[in-house]
Amino acid sequence: MPKPLIIANWKSNPATVADAISLAREVELKISKYRNVEVIIAPPFPYLIPIRKVLKSVKLGAQNSFWENGGPYTGEVSPRQLKDAGVKYVIVGHSERKNHLGETGEMINKKVRSLLENGMSPILCVGERERMDGGASAVLGEEIQKALSGVKKNQLKNLVVAYEPAWAISTAPGSRPDSPDNAFGAMIFIRRKIGDLFGRERAASVRIIYGGSVNSKNIISFLLGGKMEGALVGGASLDPREFAALVKSSTR
Ligand code: PGA
Repeated sequence: MPKPLIIANWKSNPATVADAISLAREVELKISKYRNVEVIIAPPFPYLIPIRKVLKSVKLGAQNSFWENGGPYTGEVSPRQLKDAGVKYVIVGHSERKNHLGETGEMINKKVRSLLENGMSPILCVGERERMDGGASAVLGEEIQKALSGVKKNQLKNLVVAYEPAWAISTAPGSRPDSPDNAFGAMIFIRRKIGDLFGRERAASVRIIYGGSVNSKNIISFLLGGKMEGALVGGASLDPREFAALVKSSTR
């Protein structure tokens, strides 16, 4: 059983580099004693290098990446630049990027392929926008198929898929809590779909994590009941005490 993977997605927070360093330092201090878990912080780009200096047991992640490794692409950050900054995991296709920035399936596919070719680990977010009890499979199936088109079988071991029901994200208007049962169903569906595309053995090497609204109280039900192998954490990752409690609950 791999260690649970807990990713702090800071989104566009905090406001200053000083705040980012102090948050990272506090998280590092509080969670370094927990060995049986892999913790990643994905901060806004300008904080990657400054917080790298205060992290030891926590690893660095990024919230986005371009697909080309450099060139005339104003405003984009490349996989090679991220790798050089010490990043291994990169969130791709988060629902907020799809909803606010028009990120398409084709763009997500290019990012996934490029990150894998650069030896990095995409955290591919998939999930339905509206609550569709038991009926999300069409959305998930299509997103997975598009995102993984052209991916080579031997690259799958570096892939992480985050099931992210957008309707359960804490800051989404009208958000509603998800259930471990729904998460479990989605996990089974995602693994089966990847198995259909690449074979069951390869599909077993993909880590599937949960990206709805998790906190220190409900994380264990998604890991045990939902059989998820980790979590993508938004709001709860900005409070070091709450985040450390969540990490503690995830260690087994
Ligand atoms: P949340 O965000 O933990 O604040 O609900 C989760 C996500 O955006 O994936």
